[in-house]
Amino acid sequence: MQYEGVAGTARILVVDDEDSILEVLTELLANQFQVLTASDVSGAIECLDELGADVVLTDKNLPGPSGLLLLAHVKKHFEDTEVVMMTGYASLESAIEAMRLGAYDYLLKPFDDVALVSDKIRRAVEKGELSKDRRKLMEQVLVANAELRLAHEQLRKAYLETVAGMIKALEARDAYTRGHSERVASYAVLIASAMGIQGKDLDEIREGAILHDLGKIGVREDVLNKKGRLTDEEFAHIKTHPLIGAEIVGMIEAYRHLLPMVRHHHERIDGRGYPDGLRGDEIQLSARIIAVADCFDAMTSKRPYRDPMPIEKAKKEIQDSAGTQLDARVVGAFLMASMQPGFMEIMD
Ligand SMILES: [Fe+2]
Repeated sequence: MQYEGVAGTARILVVDDEDSILEVLTELLANQFQVLTASDVSGAIECLDELGADVVLTDKNLPGPSGLLLLAHVKKHFEDTEVVMMTGYASLESAIEAMRLGAYDYLLKPFDDVALVSDKIRRAVEKGELSKDRRKLMEQVLVANAELRLAHEQLRKAYLETVAGMIKALEARDAYTRGHSERVASYAVLIASAMGIQGKDLDEIREGAILHDLGKIGVREDVLNKKGRLTDEEFAHIKTHPLIGAEIVGMIEAYRHLLPMVRHHHERIDGRGYPDGLRGDEIQLSARIIAVADCFDAMTSKRPYRDPMPIEKAKKEIQDSAGTQLDARVVGAFLMASMQPGFMEIMD
């Protein structure tokens, strides 16, 4: 079995049970295309499986299964192959039915105008090439999209690692805050998990917690490391860090969604926090979670002017702040999370 005609041109599989029709069509098409013939559906499927085809020109009425079955087979298994259906004048309706089922065109027999036949086949070939090109283009677009998404994700991670490195360097300037952001992130993840938060939302809370004090980069070192009470001016200066952090995070497109966690981790439920004096639900839940984690770590860490607070006392203080400084529901989740075995390990 092989195609015959002009080498390198489109392959036309002609299917008809009448030898005279096959002969006429072969003679007509073989000087422009490559042609192969079959006399029934099973023969046609054999040809397709072995050699494929660019266009199948098939009679509708064949002995055994009809040309419509062949059409369905081609549409299912050969997405780049077009089908042109031949029917007798009497069955124009079934030609239209064939188009509805995915045939590209139809030809009425007997052929009055052979030029029309080759014209329709040529157009079917062009249509097939167009859809093939379009499909290839779509595939390329999909691959490019996937690559872009991957690159974006890698870039986002690289950013996070860079900023986390900056924060480590920042914390390293001060023995008392060393590891603070990492611990806050670990507590925040445990609290959020206890609230049923998972997946991408949980990852974002971890990232936001890592970044929450990023703005301390803009706080003067003498104020940051001061042993003893801060003056009003110094305290006001420290209070700018959520705004500075939010400004930095806002400049990085990949982090913009983390901005509320950075900006609002010092807000209070009663509206007496900073920088915006938001209250209750106005503060994003993730920021309310980080606020609890932040308070707990601050209390249980050693400070230049005091020893770390005992854990049970810190938990009691957190509990007492529920509904005024801290969100009561988050505090409840915090108390649950604090019973978990992993919780104590964060402090070490
Ligand atoms: Fe802070």
